[in-house]
Amino acid sequence: MSLRYQAPRGTQDILPEDQAYWDYVRDTASRICRLFGYERIDTPVFETASLFTRTTGEATDIVQKEMYVFRDRGGQELALRPEGTAPVCRAYLEHGMGSRPQPVRLWYWAPIFRYDRPQAGRYRQHHQLGAEALGDSSPSLDAEVIELLWRFYQELGLSNLTLYLNSIGDGQCRPQYVETLRRYYRDRLAHVCPDCQARFHRSPLRLLDCKQEQCQPVIAEAPSMLEHLCGPCRDHLSEVGRYLEAVDVPYTMQPRLVRGFDYYTRTVFEVHPPEEGAQSALGGGGRYDGLVEMLGGPPTPAVGFGTGVERIIIQLKRQEVPVPAPGRPQVYVAWQGAEARLPAFRLASELRQKGISVLLATGDRSLKAQMRQADARGITYVAILGPRELQEGSITLRRLADGYQETLPASALLQRILSP
Ligand code: HAM
Repeated sequence: MSLRYQAPRGTQDILPEDQAYWDYVRDTASRICRLFGYERIDTPVFETASLFTRTTGEATDIVQKEMYVFRDRGGQELALRPEGTAPVCRAYLEHGMGSRPQPVRLWYWAPIFRYDRPQAGRYRQHHQLGAEALGDSSPSLDAEVIELLWRFYQELGLSNLTLYLNSIGDGQCRPQYVETLRRYYRDRLAHVCPDCQARFHRSPLRLLDCKQEQCQPVIAEAPSMLEHLCGPCRDHLSEVGRYLEAVDVPYTMQPRLVRGFDYYTRTVFEVHPPEEGAQSALGGGGRYDGLVEMLGGPPTPAVGFGTGVERIIIQLKRQEVPVPAPGRPQVYVAWQGAEARLPAFRLASELRQKGISVLLATGDRSLKAQMRQADARGITYVAILGPRELQEGSITLRRLADGYQETLPASALLQRILSP
């Protein structure tokens, strides 16, 4: 059979059997964020498109190739959120959060949309847990968000992850570095891939991020940003490192780490799973001291991260991390004979009103088939209403694990379920 409709390419349904993973990751996220004093924020799924073009960078892949942009019926140009940082900065300004005690620490859990080339771990709709701390330039805040991300993975039970750290400098030192990098690449353009030839003009820092085999020797010899940092950026980076060491968050300096957005300044970081692979980062982020200003706000230094939930779940499965089983209904209400249909419906309702989760048999299945269904769902008790029970005002309760069965007055049922 060929299906007329399928989920759009690069999107996925999250089926009931996968929800235990989602609950686990979401619950852990909200617990850890609370532990670090971050408050939840939700922003709309779509925003004015220029919010992203202005902040992410006109020349980035995200803006050039990956944004879902559309006009609404009023003619406004909107974009499905391709990342979570610019919307949080927009909300920070819109709600005057600059007048709250700084830094303002926020976290979000949100669907993100990118017209990416779908493959394992890369989708057109994915979900991110993100945290942003706005209004403070201290290196301890960089270390705090990095520690938050690291503890989150630890709490989830993930192991063998690597945290890469770098600084891409600021408005003082980066332009000079970019010039040095350009000079270095100018003589080698014939040896790099066509994408890199375009990057040379559009976004030279991204040259360092190329995954093509032929570009690796050129990258390996390229001048390092770390050697071109100005004094304040160098100090900031070494302070971030000192704080991370103080709390035993292991990191690896990666002078070629650059990221896909133009808004970053100074600290950038990524966390990678053990297996190699392009685009495999579990999470990443950095400092973006100029972003709020790009939106017309006052100077507001800030730092944050985003981490992909689908990639985390792939990793949880790969590392065989056990997750708590989803709750199942406690009672299955089975019935026999047409007269029992309505009383069974009522019994299910009464139990639910008492806070007991109930699955009610429907249709005209035999009692045996109803038992099988209850068993398949792993339910503890079956409450049976048949002609005899109706006549007596009783209910038969069967414990599926051992088949123990007793008939009780209807009024005693609740007591028996609650204290077996
Ligand atoms: P990002 O590195 O583009 O950063 O995305 C963060 C994470 O989202 C990635 O590490 C990855 O786990 C996941 N991710 C990204 N694209 C996809 C995709 N197509 N399919 C599945 N997962 C994906 C940001 O978005 C920044 N806003 C992070 C940030 C927050 N920087 C500062 N604050």
